[in-house]
Amino acid sequence: MQATALAHSNIALVKYWGKKDTALNIPAVGSISITLDALWTKTSVQFDAMLKDDVLELNDEDATDKETIRVSRFLDLVREAAGIKECARIQSKNNFPTSAGLASSASAFAALALAATNAAGLDFPGTKLSEMARKGSGSAARSIFGGYVEMSKGSKPDGSDAIARQIASADHWPLILLIAVTSEAKKKTGSTDGMELSRLTSPYYTPWVESSPADMQEMRQAIAEKDYSKLGTLSEFSALKMHALAIASDPGLLYWNGTTVEGMHLVRSLRQKGHEAYFTIDAGPQLKVLCQPDEADIISNALENLEGVKRVIRTGIGGDARLNEEF
Ligand code: DP6
Repeated sequence: MQATALAHSNIALVKYWGKKDTALNIPAVGSISITLDALWTKTSVQFDAMLKDDVLELNDEDATDKETIRVSRFLDLVREAAGIKECARIQSKNNFPTSAGLASSASAFAALALAATNAAGLDFPGTKLSEMARKGSGSAARSIFGGYVEMSKGSKPDGSDAIARQIASADHWPLILLIAVTSEAKKKTGSTDGMELSRLTSPYYTPWVESSPADMQEMRQAIAEKDYSKLGTLSEFSALKMHALAIASDPGLLYWNGTTVEGMHLVRSLRQKGHEAYFTIDAGPQLKVLCQPDEADIISNALENLEGVKRVIRTGIGGDARLNEEF
């Protein structure tokens, strides 16, 4: 009744923001991501009849009550599917500093879904694992798969078709993502609360949902054709559109700091000089920059030299979530 799994983090090129069903965590829009090779979570789950409660350790420290409750609720779904009642000991660690504001629920819930189902004796195919991971965190559904991944919003009320699938492998097209860390502070409003606020209050929410299928179609095409300018332009557009939606929520959600904004201008000025870099930003202040491998050094140096950037993490495209890791 024990298993250990590793899952990579991912970055959305077409963003997910907003839920159709909060209880089942069904997204209101589809999304497309790349899986990130250099950032991962490793999680070990052991069901044990002697335990009275689930016990969670994160990065070698006891987790907070809030973190343990979120994981316990998720494990309840696994216990229900497996027909077991035992509590579990869960150990999880990221290979990137949690304090950097990069701690990703995507890699965390993908690794947990794989380890927990396996430890419970379930042998789920990728599609079912993705559905399970989604119930922990929407972006986690994508981290089950490597390469270029599409998350469908589905149409079934039970969410069984709101799942991710690989649309191209990592070798199809090697791109680089540079993560410029601009703040180590914990963010004030997490994605779950932020996207719910946008759904309820932002005047841009309906246009955001309605314009999503066109972005999805264009991104699929950019990936299939390896059209880098199209992929980059659309990634930047989707990120800015998501932030416009968030900023227009009430109260407005402002995830950027000054360095994030300076970084966006820097990326655009690099582009004018012929270096084709494109930015994307999630619900936090880190600036994530897409580039092609032969330009990664030059763009990374430019980001490192920007005042306020603490460090730059470089990653290529990673593979599927996998079992049988040493913890
Ligand atoms: C901005 O997957 O963290 O990173 O489903 O509520 O856990 P929950 O949200 P989460 O949201 C990710 C939002 C995003 C965009 C994206 O990854 O698509």
